[in-house]
Amino acid sequence: MKFELTTKDAGSKARAGKIITDHGEILTPIFMPVGTAGTVKGVHQRELKDDIKAQIILGNTYHLYLRPGLEIIQQTGGLHKFNGWDGPILTDSGGYQVFSLKEIRKITEEGVKFNSHIDGSKHLFTPENVMDIQRTIGADIIMAFDECPPYPCEYDYAENSMHLTHRWLKRCINRFNETEGKYGYSQALFPIVQGSVYKDLRKASAEFIAEQNQAGNAIGGLSVGEPAEDMYEMLEVVNNILPEEKPRYLMGVGTPANILEAIALGTDMFDCVMPTRNARNGMLFTTEGIINIRNKKWKDDFSPIDPGLDNYASNFYSKAYLKHLIKCQEMLGAQIASIHNLAFYLWLVKQAREHILAGDFTSWKNEMTKKLMQRL
Ligand code: GUN
Repeated sequence: MKFELTTKDAGSKARAGKIITDHGEILTPIFMPVGTAGTVKGVHQRELKDDIKAQIILGNTYHLYLRPGLEIIQQTGGLHKFNGWDGPILTDSGGYQVFSLKEIRKITEEGVKFNSHIDGSKHLFTPENVMDIQRTIGADIIMAFDECPPYPCEYDYAENSMHLTHRWLKRCINRFNETEGKYGYSQALFPIVQGSVYKDLRKASAEFIAEQNQAGNAIGGLSVGEPAEDMYEMLEVVNNILPEEKPRYLMGVGTPANILEAIALGTDMFDCVMPTRNARNGMLFTTEGIINIRNKKWKDDFSPIDPGLDNYASNFYSKAYLKHLIKCQEMLGAQIASIHNLAFYLWLVKQAREHILAGDFTSWKNEMTKKLMQRL
């Protein structure tokens, strides 16, 4: 994997760049639709690729390891072959997911013991086997095994947890270097900065992560309930330290406004379940503001969902029809809303990129933020 920095914004830390993987190129800043179980919920590959033009999608180690299991994925030749997405894929390491299991997990130096949320069976994730599993899944970018501490979090817990994440990272890197991709293309490993909302810990973590000299770097443990201002403060500290010539990935973030602010602070890659999860509940992000499509006011609005976007679903279907589908819990409603919200997120980061290239990013961002968060 390679990263080329194309343009740096003069008025902020924002950058436009290009990530080159063996499965294709990704123009940054970029949003990555989440496909936890190997599918972006409700969205065909053809729609992802041709209609909304996603450039990279996510998968998850925890879910894919439990179902369908590694044997099936290996047998089919990796996740790209299994789900038919031949563009770049990134997999999260499973750390974040096992930590959200709470009662059914135990953290030790060795790794994390957990019980499957599906059948209660016992499993152990270690830095080593999480590398092996991600070699088998075969994503282009794989993530280090980390602990994402909860929020709020005592200083001592955050500090110990950060050191554990760093020790695990060393083990991840060793295993990663001892092994190679199974399917004939290369994979990159991204380490993850932790440190909760403590500036000195974030600084120490970013320094440690930067020293590992991997192809790209991630920032975890944010958007876990802390005020947005704290998240931006941590990002500022971390992005000042992470090397400029490598992509920076902010994990699990966020709202459209969070993403624009994080881009202004020098972040390049984002993922979040918000566009698809909220879509299923009828919350739509549009180029004019936020719509709750369940609201009565849309019942006879026959205008397209969002003529400001150029994808098919957002233009072909009306707000009134989508309201009807969501109200009746028709599957198609969730599908259209998901495609629309993803199209919006992809439009947003593409606009950000174009304004970085044009040199007017900050004024555009300030105007856009006001508009995007208003409720229609
Ligand atoms: N997704 C969102 N936040 C995190 C994090 O801190 N670690 C990992 N592995 N995944 C995440």
